Amino acid sequence: MCGIVGIITSEKRNLVPEIISSLKNLEYRGYDSTGIAIINTGEIRRVHRLGAPSDVFVPQQISEELGVTSDGLSVAIGHNRWATHGKPSEENAHPHFDCTDTLAIVHNGTILNHELLRKELIALGHTFSSTTDTEVIPHLIEQKIKEGSSVKDAFLDTAACLDGSFGLALISSNEPDRLLLAKHGSPLLFGVLKDTLIAASSSNAILAYTNTFITLADGEYADLSIGSGNVSYKIGTIQDRENLITKETTTITDHSREDMSMGEYESFMKKEIHEQPSVFRTTILGRYDETTGDAVLGGLIDYEDMLRHARQVITVACGTAHNAALVGGILIETLANLPVRNEIASEFRYKKVPISPEEAILFAVSQSGETADTLESVKEARRKGYTTFGIVNVVGSAIAEAVDAGVYARAGFEIGVASTKAFIAQLAIFYLLAIKLARERGMTPQEGQSILNELNKIPNLMIKTLETTESEIKRLAENYASKGIRTINFLGRGIHVPICIEASLKFKELTYLETGSYPLGELKHGPIAIIDNNALSIIIMPHDDLFALNKNSLEQVLSKGGNVIVVTDELGAQNLVLQDIEVIIIPTLKNQLLYPALEILPLQLFAYHYARALGNNVDKPRNLAKSVTVE
Ligand code: M6R
Repeated sequence: MCGIVGIITSEKRNLVPEIISSLKNLEYRGYDSTGIAIINTGEIRRVHRLGAPSDVFVPQQISEELGVTSDGLSVAIGHNRWATHGKPSEENAHPHFDCTDTLAIVHNGTILNHELLRKELIALGHTFSSTTDTEVIPHLIEQKIKEGSSVKDAFLDTAACLDGSFGLALISSNEPDRLLLAKHGSPLLFGVLKDTLIAASSSNAILAYTNTFITLADGEYADLSIGSGNVSYKIGTIQDRENLITKETTTITDHSREDMSMGEYESFMKKEIHEQPSVFRTTILGRYDETTGDAVLGGLIDYEDMLRHARQVITVACGTAHNAALVGGILIETLANLPVRNEIASEFRYKKVPISPEEAILFAVSQSGETADTLESVKEARRKGYTTFGIVNVVGSAIAEAVDAGVYARAGFEIGVASTKAFIAQLAIFYLLAIKLARERGMTPQEGQSILNELNKIPNLMIKTLETTESEIKRLAENYASKGIRTINFLGRGIHVPICIEASLKFKELTYLETGSYPLGELKHGPIAIIDNNALSIIIMPHDDLFALNKNSLEQVLSKGGNVIVVTDELGAQNLVLQDIEVIIIPTLKNQLLYPALEILPLQLFAYHYARALGNNVDKPRNLAKSVTVE
């Protein structure tokens, strides 16, 4: 949610194209409005617009608007917004200024005490030009400078007054060779080059320039400056600013750069759907031992005893990550005979969970590692004495740092706002985790080996599934989209129910149509009322133990005149009367618990092609943001 960038360089040049290109790489974090501020010939200048940088910023035109001359620039900041306080508009787009137009700030996060601060600042004579929470920040800094503080102290004293979350970058025309950063709760790092320091909310924004970064921790600030023709930086904490900190740089591998490019694909989402076989393979790589039939999760190694003796598992997550956890819950209960409670993070934090922290282990699942609801749940759980583990994709993210230990998801950067490859990586980890917990609770080595053996084949079967289903699923999606079908339900039983929920979420996010997902047996208890020849039911029913029961329910849907697509396996297709139904066929598996990893693929593609047929933006669906950092 919102992305910031800032550049400071001792080699003066036009920084506008670099800021715009970095902002484009951050669009997945927010794309309703955008802005840039620079210091040019001693004064702060800004452009801000409604829309995403890709749509509204042409580097040459913006450089001209900002009056960038051949002398070049030393410092610039930029922002992509996902509105939380104040509607998307030009006035509300960052950077925000103080009353004297000498300070410009970009902010990622939410200021909870902004109303009180705004009231106090207005009483002191400050005039506001936006309805954002952010605008209190430059005015508060201005106020502190007026009262005698230096720019740096005013900035840090202001940061200390803020309740909520922030990643901040500040420039001041009175100190044109300085870029100040501060972080609490929102991610912030900066890349280190010989003559340039470049800050951003995420490393992928600036990978084109450097893959060596310093990541700020909560409560830290960085003072980036130019002196004697060189750039340098100092890092400290907001509370103890005189004691400087030495931090290690992190280097990101080249693989991450590939994630930032669409390659031959028409969208990031399409690319990420097709990356799933390799993501699954990478996520399980080196994390199991076929000779012992056990999973080897290095991140949990110090907690073996706790895993062995736990009497309950709790998962906390949101959206797609929660849906992966629902699959994980069924896997753990079935294989390890260990009860699982799947909690939606936004609910967990505020509810009483009658499980003693000594008996339970808690897994927080998150792609971004930034989701406020999940992060706060982890903090609350720790306060209550739970040991917390993470299944997180982004290395070093807030949730990864907040948990006691964890397992990284290895999906790489996921750019498409609708999550696909992160889901598959989370599933892969849950398979391994379930095996691990099961092996500690009576699963034999042979049983473990048998699942691992088939798990190992999943990536190739995923490739086959994508290859054999895509053209048919595209045809069906385009056909139903053109028919104007508006009631779409995803139905299944057992381990397929969470896949129905995920397929429905994906479909909703991309098509903006209302969809439902139900356990198939529930159909007759109400939802069947909406089935007629304008409704489409997508039934997931591979040839498993419940196949006969599912066939019955399928008949019920057909008898009401509904349209039906069945997702089944080769064996299932042979056992169905294919009249009046469309069929998508996935490979047959020995272990029924592994079907989710295959069956989700055509359903992601269905949502994708349906949305494209409706003309929707699949990478940036309306109203959504990739990391939801507000509660
Ligand atoms: O980054 P997280 O996995 O914590 O995000 C959780 C949800 O916000 C996320 O999965 C959301 O539901 C996606 N838009 C799903 O496609």
